Amino acid sequence: MTFRDQTPGAIRLDGNETTIIFAWTDGLPAILHHGEKLSEDADLLGIAAALARPEAHATLDINEPVSLHPEPSRGFPGHPALTGKRRDEPKSWAGKFNLIDITKQPNRVRFHLTDEPRALSLDLDCQIDPESDVATFRSHLLNRGDAPFIVDWLAPPVIAPDRRYGEFLAFHGRWCAEFAIERRPVSIGTMLRENRRGRTSHDAFPGIVLLTSTTDQEQGVCLGCHLGWSGNHRLLLECLPNGDRQLQMGALFMGEEAVIAPGEAIETPPLYIAQSIGGLNALSQKFHDHVRKRILQLPDPHAPRPVTVNTWEAIYFDHRHERLTALADAAAAIGAERFVLDDGWFRGRRDDTSSLGDWYPDEEIYPQGLGPIADYVHDKGMQFGLWVEPEMVSPNSDLFLDHPDWALSVDPYPMITGRNQLVLDIARSEVSNYLFERLASLISDHDIDYLKWDMNRDLTLPGGKGGTAVASRQIDALYSLIDRLLRTFPSLEIESCASGGGRIDYGILQRTHRFWVSDSNDTVERLRIQWGFSYFFPPEVMGAHVGPTWSHTSGRGLPVGFRALIASSGHFGIEDDLTRMSDADLDVLSDAVERHKEDREIWHRGRFYRLQTVDASLNGCMAVAADRQHARLIVAAIDRPDVSLMPRMRLPGLQSNQTYRIRLQYTSETVDRANRRFDNLIATDGLMLRGEVLAIIGLSLPILNAQSGLAIAIDAVTANGG
Ligand code: GLA
Repeated sequence: MTFRDQTPGAIRLDGNETTIIFAWTDGLPAILHHGEKLSEDADLLGIAAALARPEAHATLDINEPVSLHPEPSRGFPGHPALTGKRRDEPKSWAGKFNLIDITKQPNRVRFHLTDEPRALSLDLDCQIDPESDVATFRSHLLNRGDAPFIVDWLAPPVIAPDRRYGEFLAFHGRWCAEFAIERRPVSIGTMLRENRRGRTSHDAFPGIVLLTSTTDQEQGVCLGCHLGWSGNHRLLLECLPNGDRQLQMGALFMGEEAVIAPGEAIETPPLYIAQSIGGLNALSQKFHDHVRKRILQLPDPHAPRPVTVNTWEAIYFDHRHERLTALADAAAAIGAERFVLDDGWFRGRRDDTSSLGDWYPDEEIYPQGLGPIADYVHDKGMQFGLWVEPEMVSPNSDLFLDHPDWALSVDPYPMITGRNQLVLDIARSEVSNYLFERLASLISDHDIDYLKWDMNRDLTLPGGKGGTAVASRQIDALYSLIDRLLRTFPSLEIESCASGGGRIDYGILQRTHRFWVSDSNDTVERLRIQWGFSYFFPPEVMGAHVGPTWSHTSGRGLPVGFRALIASSGHFGIEDDLTRMSDADLDVLSDAVERHKEDREIWHRGRFYRLQTVDASLNGCMAVAADRQHARLIVAAIDRPDVSLMPRMRLPGLQSNQTYRIRLQYTSETVDRANRRFDNLIATDGLMLRGEVLAIIGLSLPILNAQSGLAIAIDAVTANGG
């Protein structure tokens, strides 16, 4: 359906629980409402009239609200949605788009805008997924002129957050401490977060949640946004003195990396937006649903996520065949389903100072190639995975000797290494062809089922040929390289890793299948990281491993049962040397593997809840199966509780009138000692309670010592008593 000359006008998009209303008079469309669903016959123009703005003193005579594309030529005094120019055209920095056409499809609207003096066309594309309720916004800028147009900044359609959102959650972090959350007030001025690291980054996850001071996990309004992009980005939340607010997120460009040639166009990365009136859990559930239905493309969506053994913290660079086969034996014995050979397998790689780029099995350690170990693993009934870091080159490598010019640099500035390595200019076809050929032959020669695709350094000076900035081209080239591999090997699965969680976003997730969320296997740190991660990502894409007793990254020592418990809600794995574990620890671990296999369907397909407690030292999460007949619950204490008894735990998401049997599935090592007596969940038949009691009144739990936890199973009692 096409509308023409709608002045003034309004249009709506409807999700499952959400309505978005766009309205315009003689200006550009603006978001009038993004939230609660309105009745089908709501009078949109009436709503627009109800919200017509009075004029304040000492303002321009045009009272421009935050439109989908704010610009100074319309009197908007804040940050514009587009900044750019044509060389040698002094006034081309200024421009004004007019709405000329609207294309409306059931769940999508495209506003077509043109700026004739500048010969630019802009499409603002807004759609909502009727199932997940997540909206996706994108801008598309076409240069119809004769000269290139240089874009400094182009935002996807701009969000105008309602003033009811007085606070926001920002996600920051660092290596081994990803997804830290800071709750801050929204205040006058601009909150600007930029990432110039050349990858999604550990410290500036491109996401934000706006909320009110009373919004919590279970109630209240909130609006979440995430930019699906794996490179440099900017997030800008601006509050103008008149109370208007705007949220812009987009790809951040350096130098002249976004030059649109005549007749060509650029498109922003997608901005994903969800709104909830039922608290933060409901918001996350929408994002999880969207990931499951629209982002993640698993070769076999019905297959369970395989229990993984990764060699990294078990053996590091010690790749002797007998060590590997012993580890594979132990992995198979404990029930692992995938064995991943991490760093150290390729030509000359004995430590992290050399050889990236030389993607051939090391002739000394693997005289017959990777065939024998891959076959060994396959014969044990496990998938075989391989670590690679394709975008990188070590100065100390054959590849660099042969092609020093393949590394990104800006002459005459010295190339800065990170973990002793440089970055390849993978947008050059000879470079991506080399990488494709190497990866493709490794995969086909050894029947590789899985790649752990790493990226271990920042890229702050991304100079391509002639030194031109290519940071965003690098990400496009990365996406193309992975897409090409997946087209050739459709059953291949890929893990996205960047020194742990440095590349976690929906852009990379469209072409990978899980994340290595953090290099920290320290369970106490992981509890917090996993909590933050869950705001935008469901548990099945959360790589979570049982690391060594004494964490290699933090030095903290924790018992194996607790480590396994906290990893078991995610895509579970083990990264400890199983061949050196005590029999007692192996028993605990194999029980955890078994329990995970029984429960993973619930964690990986169910609705995920972060559990709210009044005690900050407690951390709980829960998954409720789609049919709401089963739920699994993990509660952990980081510290001793404030008071001697645990607070009641309220469990949302179950069917009110259904009776459930509640069983203590597992308590980690020290829980017995913390309780002189505890038996409400220990009785053989478990406790029987209705869903409404669990949600409204809650459950009393055993006392947890510091750094311990428990797992609870909740299963509907059926007519035959099962
Ligand atoms: C990075 C990853 C680790 C491991 C090493 C190998 O640090 O995050 O998991 O693969 O590289 O060098």
